[in-house]
Amino acid sequence: MQDWKFILVTEPAARKEIAEACLQQYWMETAPVYVVICSQPEKSERFYGERGKRLYSIQNAAAATENMLIAAHDQGLGGCWVSAFSDDMLRRALNIPDGVNPYAVITIGYPDETPAIPPKFPIENVVFIEKWGNRLRDIAAFMEHYAEHVVNAAKAGKEFVQKAIEKIKE
Ligand SMILES: Cc1cc2nc3c(=O)[nH]c(=O)nc-3n(C[C@H](O)[C@H](O)[C@H](O)COP(=O)(O)O)c2cc1C
Repeated sequence: MQDWKFILVTEPAARKEIAEACLQQYWMETAPVYVVICSQPEKSERFYGERGKRLYSIQNAAAATENMLIAAHDQGLGGCWVSAFSDDMLRRALNIPDGVNPYAVITIGYPDETPAIPPKFPIENVVFIEKWGNRLRDIAAFMEHYAEHVVNAAKAGKEFVQKAIEKIKE
């Protein structure tokens, strides 16, 4: 379908205007290259109706955005997905016509830091097995990582015995 268009921005003045449109995220200006991901939802609508317009066009743009971020990372570059912006301001800054929607700005540059991975929810909180609500109780056992499973079980057993000994001592 390729219902997308990408605007490459490198001019400092243009990058400043975009950073302003992105709710004054001036940190963006430190990146020398932006890619603005746009979509033309009427293209998807023509083939897939309302669902194409409402859902597929956004999913296409999001997949392209993520793929670009991964490709940039693969090249040793850093990128940030920025979608907090004023639609009107971004449209004006880039002459984006009606019928075209900007969905994301990716900032690209060589990173000068290696941030720690932010905390993530444990897998048990976000994955269900077979049906909604079926929680994974023991990831190691489920993945047949028996070594890890045995180590964890042994640790739990040891803790249990230690607690029991402390209780007896009381
Ligand atoms: C839809 C979407 C919009 C985002 N918008 C912004 C943004 O406007 N400004 C920003 O600094 N980060 C934004 N982010 C977050 C960063 O891109 C974030 O660092 C990235 O998603 C990596 O996530 P992590 O830090 O949890 O690994 C956005 C992320 C997503 C998925």
